[in-house]
Amino acid sequence: MTYNTPLYSALINYTKENKIPFHMPGHKQGSGISARFKTSVFDIDLTELLETDNLHAPEGPIQEAQQLAAAAFGAQHSFFLINGSTCGIQAMVASICNPGDILIVDRNCHSSVISSLILCGVTPKYIYPEYIADLGVVGGIHPAKIQEMLIQCPQAKGVLITSPTYYGICSDVKKIAQIVHSHGKILLVDEAHGAHFCFHKKLPQSALQAGADMCVQSAHKTLPALTQSSLLHVNSDRIDLPRLKSCLKLFQSSSPSFILMAYLDIARSIMQNSGEKMLNDLIEWTEELRDRINRIGKIYCLGKELIGTCHIQDMDATRVVIHFGKLGLTGYQVARELNMRYNIQVEMADFHNIICIVSPGNNKQQLEYLGQCSQQISSIIYNKKTFNRTGYIKPIFKQPPIGQYTITPREVFYSESEIIPIEKAVDRVCADTIVSFPPGIPILCPGEVVCYDIIKYISEIIACGGKVVGLEDGCNIRVVKN
Ligand SMILES: Cc1ncc(COP(=O)(O)O)c(C=O)c1O
Repeated sequence: MTYNTPLYSALINYTKENKIPFHMPGHKQGSGISARFKTSVFDIDLTELLETDNLHAPEGPIQEAQQLAAAAFGAQHSFFLINGSTCGIQAMVASICNPGDILIVDRNCHSSVISSLILCGVTPKYIYPEYIADLGVVGGIHPAKIQEMLIQCPQAKGVLITSPTYYGICSDVKKIAQIVHSHGKILLVDEAHGAHFCFHKKLPQSALQAGADMCVQSAHKTLPALTQSSLLHVNSDRIDLPRLKSCLKLFQSSSPSFILMAYLDIARSIMQNSGEKMLNDLIEWTEELRDRINRIGKIYCLGKELIGTCHIQDMDATRVVIHFGKLGLTGYQVARELNMRYNIQVEMADFHNIICIVSPGNNKQQLEYLGQCSQQISSIIYNKKTFNRTGYIKPIFKQPPIGQYTITPREVFYSESEIIPIEKAVDRVCADTIVSFPPGIPILCPGEVVCYDIIKYISEIIACGGKVVGLEDGCNIRVVKN
């Protein structure tokens, strides 16, 4: 009998290639999880039983595990999430906003923030973080812009910011929290990429330590946890806990995976026992890698020297972002080269950079190898040897173009729409979230006006090998009917 299992086969074939993983999930195909926790997933794939507890009304081991998580992450209350930070962001927004309310949001947010706005009928007031044109990377959020917006919109329910970004860039959450609280509002932080921060003093201050009322963390990105497992933490008396709990029921499965929850519990325990030592090693190895790369001169690995520029308050030492723009290479090309020639899989690439997620599942040799390979690519290019430069298109944009905001994402969602060729969409209101994926940050949000530059920008990403999600058949776009 033959079994046709294309996905399963693809995964098994992939594992045979033994790629070096600089991507999520943070357990790195099990390397970050001690042997004692490597049990059969079938044995523990259980359901709500007397002995196993219920995520939506915990009073046994889930409650105990969540309390241990709260103590470890410095929260008053922690909640296990089995639909990723995505559902945590949705629950945070739903717990503080009613339909028609205003929320101040950084425009560099993940698409899950936009989906929250649609689901909850919330009107965004966008804050635009500064763009570091030399690196092609978005910087931190200027606290003064938050202050200005709070003065302009005294009726806003709160502020939702992203810190750190995918690139490990942290805003001054402490200052922002002080400003937000001085206006009597609530600060929500999307800390999807910062679940490891509280386990080492050399890492940026966590959002909770900095004064956030609530935050979400994707444990699966930087901790030895399984994909989709995340945490929502509350550290404030400003949050209506019963309402938050009912929001979590709205956005999470009624059959949560006990495998995910068990490995969240394990990830917390591993980090409490040996996280500091593991992170210490990682910080040392990534610093060595930075030194090595920055000595080459032609490529640049982002680091602490950026602190104080573009409202960057801190940098995550474990996040490795290497800028290849000065060599005339796109990040997409380098990512492909690392994959095909050197067996390295990075997390993400953009026009100028590659982004590697380094977690306790990685080791020193892997980081040294990444350094060697980056050096080799740069010297091949520098000496104009055989590297395949076809496909390189010099990016023409100094800064991603921005669509003008018109109507709320929810109004758009319920408007009549039509699908048209993207080149005919100039001046039309976008009806979808058009996302470069990863990082999942919208190029166009529902309700923003499509302009010529945005169309060029999207086609540039596609031409350079990037992935754009939200278009129909890759060349059509859904717009609001006139
Ligand atoms: C900044 C940010 N926020 C939220 C999310 C959503 O997290 P999850 O994948 O855990 O649902 C992501 C995912 O990449 C992200 O990068």
